[in-house]
Amino acid sequence: MNIVVLAMPPLQQATPCLIIPVWQTACETPLLKELDTRLAGDLSLALQTGAFMGRSGEKLLLHAGRRLPAERVLLVGLGEAKPAGEALRKGAALAVAVLREQRLTDCCLVVPETAPEETGDAARALAEGLLLADYRFDRFLTENLDRLPPTLKEVGLLIAETGRQDAATEGARRAQIVCRSVTMARDLVNQPGNIKSPEYMATQAAEMATAAGLKCMVLDRAQLKTEGCGALLAVGQGSVREPRLIVLEYLGGNPGEKPLALVGKAVVFDSGGLSLKPGEKMDEMKSDMAGGAAVLGTMAAAAGLKLPVNLIGIIPAVENLPSGTAYRPGDILTSLSGKTIEVLNTDAEGRLILADALTYAARFAPRAVIDLATLTGACIIALGNHTTAVLGTDQALIDRLRQAGEETGERLWQLPLWEEYDEQIKSEVADVKNTGGRPAGTITAAAFLRKFVPEGCPWAHLDIAGPSWEEKGGGYLPLGATGVGVRLLIRYLEAGG
Ligand code: BES
Ligand code: MN
Ligand code: ZN
Repeated sequence: MNIVVLAMPPLQQATPCLIIPVWQTACETPLLKELDTRLAGDLSLALQTGAFMGRSGEKLLLHAGRRLPAERVLLVGLGEAKPAGEALRKGAALAVAVLREQRLTDCCLVVPETAPEETGDAARALAEGLLLADYRFDRFLTENLDRLPPTLKEVGLLIAETGRQDAATEGARRAQIVCRSVTMARDLVNQPGNIKSPEYMATQAAEMATAAGLKCMVLDRAQLKTEGCGALLAVGQGSVREPRLIVLEYLGGNPGEKPLALVGKAVVFDSGGLSLKPGEKMDEMKSDMAGGAAVLGTMAAAAGLKLPVNLIGIIPAVENLPSGTAYRPGDILTSLSGKTIEVLNTDAEGRLILADALTYAARFAPRAVIDLATLTGACIIALGNHTTAVLGTDQALIDRLRQAGEETGERLWQLPLWEEYDEQIKSEVADVKNTGGRPAGTITAAAFLRKFVPEGCPWAHLDIAGPSWEEKGGGYLPLGATGVGVRLLIRYLEAGG
C-alpha cells in the first residue's frame, strides 16, 4: 500500500471511495453539510433513519452518482472515545473492511480536523489502522487467489489546509516505517513451526540487520556451551534443531550512552517438552516466539526511524520438544549466571531461556532491561486476550511503558512483584525452581526472572501471552499474529525512553 498526503478539499477529490471519519458528537460538520447539499439531501435522509450516528463501528456507504468527483462516500463512526488515536485506528480498520467487501484497492481518507499540534498523530493513527488492518498471511495459499478480497494499493490522506500537510506527511511516514516492522513481526509469528527453526530466526535477524544497518551476532550451540548457557541449552536439547542466541545492536544515540536492552523469548514451537501440553490449540504454540519477533521488529523500526537511542536486542531462540534427548522434570541446570535451577515442569521453558538471556544482557552494562515473552497461560486467565501484564523493579520505567500502552492501544496492566512471591519458587535442592504452582503463575514467573536481571538494573517484564495472538481477528488486528510490542516500544522510545 502506498500512502500519500494531499492538501485537497475532500469534495473536489476524484477517487473510487471518499472515506470520512465522523465523531459521534459531530454529525453536522461544515464538510458533512456541504456533502449533503452536493448529494441533494441524500445524506440527511440517511441520517434521519438513525442508521448512522457516528458511533464506533457504524458505517454508511453512499453512491455519489455524478454529483461528486468521488464515486462513493463512506462515513465511518469514530465514537466519542478518548484517546483519539485508538478511535482513528479502529475507524480506518473499519474502512478497510468495507473497501474489501466492495473489492476496491484505491481510496482517499479525510484526516479529521484536529488541533494543529495533533495533526501528525491523527494522520499516523489513520495510516496505522489502514496498514495494520490490510495485513493478511497468505503466502501458503496457492488456489483461488483471485477470490480473496484485494488488498489496498493507493491511499490518499486528505488535509483541508496546506499548513497541516508537513505534519501529516511525517505522521504517515512514521506509520509506514513502524507498520513495516509490525508486519515483519507478524509474518515471523504466523510462519509455521516446520519452517521456523531457531536457525531460521537467526537468519531472519541477520538479514533484517543487514537491510537496516544493524550489527548482528549469533551464538550457536557450541558457543553457547563454551559460554555456559546451561538453561537455554537444556530447553533446546530435545530438538534436532539446535538453539541460537541472537544479539542485535543499534547505536543511534550518543557514543558513550549506556544502551537499553530488549530481551525477547523465541520458542519457535512449544510442545511443553516431556511435560507435554494437551493437543487442543497446541498449534498456536508456533507463536511462542512473539517476544523475540517484537524485539526484532522494534530494532528494525528504531533504525528505520533513526531514533537517537542505543539499543541491544537479545533473542534466545529454541524449540521445546519431547524426545530421548529432551531435558526432564527433576533435572538441575546450571545457568549462565551460575545459579542452579530445579526443573519441575519442562513446559515452564520460557523463563529458563530468558534467565540466560538476561544474564547475558549484563555484558552490555544496560541502563535498563525490558523483556517481552509469551510466558504464562495464567496471564490469559488473569487479564484476558487484549492486555499485556507488566511487572518489574522500577516504577518509573513501568509507568512510562504504561503511558506508551495507552497511546498505542497496546495496553498494559501492572501486577505486584512483592518479595513474598519468592517463597513459591524456593527449591530444596537448587537455588530456585522453575515453577511456583498454580497461584499467581504470572507473578511467580516474573519473580523467577528477577533473580537473573543484571544487579541493580531497572527492569520491566511484559507478559504478552494474551495479546500476541488473535483467535478470531477484528479491527486492525487480523486473525493470527498481532505483532504486539513493536508499536508500544517505539512509542516508549519516541517519548524519550
Ligand atoms: N508458552 C507458554 C505460555 C502460553 C500459554 C502462552 C498459552 C500463550 C498461550 C509457556 O511456556 C508455558 O507453557 N507456561 C506454563 C507454565 C507452567 C508450566 C508453570 C503455563 O502457563 O501453563
Ligand atoms: Mn511452555
Ligand atoms: Zn512457552
